[in-house]
Amino acid sequence: LFMKKIIIAIDGFSSCGKSTMAKDLAREIGYIYIDSGAMYRAVTLYCMEHGLFNADGSIREKDLQDQMDDIHISFRLDADSQRPQTYLNDVCVEDRIRSLEVSSHVSPVAALGFVRQALVRQQQAMGKEKGIVMDGRDIGTAVFLDAELKIFVTASAEIRARRRYDELKAKGQEASFEDILHNVEERDRIDQTREVSPLRKADDAILLDNSLMSIAEQKEWLKEQFEKAIHAS
Ligand code: DC
Repeated sequence: LFMKKIIIAIDGFSSCGKSTMAKDLAREIGYIYIDSGAMYRAVTLYCMEHGLFNADGSIREKDLQDQMDDIHISFRLDADSQRPQTYLNDVCVEDRIRSLEVSSHVSPVAALGFVRQALVRQQQAMGKEKGIVMDGRDIGTAVFLDAELKIFVTASAEIRARRRYDELKAKGQEASFEDILHNVEERDRIDQTREVSPLRKADDAILLDNSLMSIAEQKEWLKEQFEKAIHAS
């Protein structure tokens, strides 16, 4: 039973805690964890470093398209922390892809059809042997249509904004709750209305509203879903 491996697709809104629960589960059951958002962020960083953004924030699409084959993204486990780190052309970019600058440039990059096509192909290759937990926006609707377990995570915008606000505060950073809430709502709108692979729940995904759940409760819930899916597959 334990030798049987499945694919677990976890999609949902931004800042809803899906990567925390995905990472925890993967570690516990010995699966590979892939943060697909990190791949869109890495392409965005590449664009920033190679002058592929115009002054108005738009992208030099033709140049990026020509250079797509030069962009190699991989994940490696940090020896000390055992956390997966994102590499862009063999350089660790884990910290840089989390910067505010990358966050505010990534949406138009993730909206390009040829970027999505290239990354989806790589993501599908990573899942060939199964035994993988991948989180993102389109994993259950585009990357792994046949995933044995699909979860769609959501929480109210206020709660997600509150969590980000508390996180920033804990890091000692100044933040306005109103600004963060606005940013969360704006990203929801962009994610759900973009033309290519908009964020939506797959028909066969299990909905999890974690507004009122602790991290421990979510972890427990996800483990149960995993066990059910293993028995059913
Ligand atoms: O989850 P995140 O904030 O790291 O995602 C970064 C960006 O990439 C965000 O704009 C949504 C987009 N994204 C996507 O379009 N498809 C995915 N599978 C994952 C992320």
